Amino acid sequence: MKIRHILLSLLLLCSVSVSAQEVSLVPLPASIETAEGNFIFGKKLTIKTAGYAADSLQTVVNDFAETFEKATGVKVKATKSASAQMVVSLDKELPAEGYSLNISPKKIAVEVSSPAGLFYALQTIKQLMPRNVLAGVPDKSIGEWSLPAIAIKDAPRFSWRGFMLDEGRHFYGKEAVKKIIDIMAAYKLNRFHWHLTEDQGWRIEIKKYPRLTEVGAWRNSKVLGWGDTKPDGIRYGGYYTHEDIKEVVEYARRRFIEIVPEVDIPGHSQAAVASYPGILACDINNWHEVWLWQGVSADVINVADPNAVRFAKDVIDELTELFPFGYIHLGGDECPTAKWERNADCRELLAEIGSKNYRDLQIDFYRQLKEHIAAKPAGKQRKLIFWNEVLHGNTAPLGTDITIMAWIGADRAAVDAAKRGMTTILTPQIPYYINRRQSPLPTEPRSQGHGTETVEAVYKYIPMNKVDKELQKQYLGVQANFWTEWVEDASTVEYLMFPRLAAVAEAGWTPAEKRDYNNFVERIQCDTMYYRLKGANYGKHIFKGGSIN
Ligand code: ACM
Repeated sequence: MKIRHILLSLLLLCSVSVSAQEVSLVPLPASIETAEGNFIFGKKLTIKTAGYAADSLQTVVNDFAETFEKATGVKVKATKSASAQMVVSLDKELPAEGYSLNISPKKIAVEVSSPAGLFYALQTIKQLMPRNVLAGVPDKSIGEWSLPAIAIKDAPRFSWRGFMLDEGRHFYGKEAVKKIIDIMAAYKLNRFHWHLTEDQGWRIEIKKYPRLTEVGAWRNSKVLGWGDTKPDGIRYGGYYTHEDIKEVVEYARRRFIEIVPEVDIPGHSQAAVASYPGILACDINNWHEVWLWQGVSADVINVADPNAVRFAKDVIDELTELFPFGYIHLGGDECPTAKWERNADCRELLAEIGSKNYRDLQIDFYRQLKEHIAAKPAGKQRKLIFWNEVLHGNTAPLGTDITIMAWIGADRAAVDAAKRGMTTILTPQIPYYINRRQSPLPTEPRSQGHGTETVEAVYKYIPMNKVDKELQKQYLGVQANFWTEWVEDASTVEYLMFPRLAAVAEAGWTPAEKRDYNNFVERIQCDTMYYRLKGANYGKHIFKGGSIN
């Protein structure tokens, strides 16, 4: 009876006309002023949109119209009349992703400086309504659609608000990825970092090297061995074709999410080495197979072989064609040097470089790849991102126009990168690795950690804490990461990542002084309905009336 009562009041809070006090926006906007009354939608919504290059504001409205009409039955009509119900105008002073939204009982006024700002204003409008609107799912039980009268001025704190999914260890496929992209967009995240290669699997078709997916995308175990868990002998794998990638790229682009492809080289590369041992292995005559275990493989790429350098350049060329965005991530984490130390060519190259630090072989490899990209025409230029272990080498040959993704000792590594003049992204292992257990309960799925990365712990991490003012401009933002050694199915990925992803999104968007965990917990309650309508699993821990699993 009690649970029924709670559920009913939640349903009322989240679904009928949303009054000013009940606004449940995640991430919390920079400024909200509520007012009296509601804007009531009739059978149609007329929208006048300012002109913009390539009609791209109108494209955003058209995409909005599609899901809005489906969810509410309200028809969206473009008009040139100044008496339109919704007027979208340009204010060049606003930040690129910012917007101002004024809803009165008579009118919806939106001001933006770019299509991204309009996209976020429209996401906010959808979030001010019952969650079926955000999910794009019809709800015939609602007879009248409305918005609360409200004035919002909003812009993100950070330009980089990311989520990384490791599909090297386990492969989930494009429908699972699109669902994640939808939910990222709802939380105003804007970077999907796609970790596509690992010791345990290579997941992206590279036309010039077909064995990467003929051989490297498959292994003889679904589970990855660790401790008492042994490889199960099941043939397992999968990969994305160029067509799949193009489809996901377009899907993300329309939601203002840039995809950052990661090809993790020269470490974490056993699947690639197993596909082309003749050009990539440090020890050609040994047996190489796609790895069946967790951990860090010592079977790294032979960076002293010019064929391996050629291979990496060719892979970058195909990535550049497939991903029309700003960045490529080349990994760089956890790269054992033992095989280089035993390889005569590697030893000779290190002496030529004039270093005794084997990490500098890795830096020299990246230098050549960076120069290869720098020689491309302007439209094909990409910036490079590396995990923070590259800071253990002499980074001078890489210059300062690279980005360090700080994960281990993240706060210190980020300061180090910023002091070297590089930009940096905070993705601290503790607590932003949202594949780690979010509760110590024995009912939790198997994963890393002891259950201390709770929603609260994730929320309460303070990015860029006590960083000198002059270094702050080097901090691009924040990112949650999801590693999949233990996670074989998309439903468990979702269970672990939601709602913790929303906590990271709020750190990336909301002004630091406005963030408040208890208030976040109140605002996110409605999202149980959103997750259900999206068919997404989620951790129930902080939701009222929800059981734990
Ligand atoms: C990492 O967690 N190895 C980047």
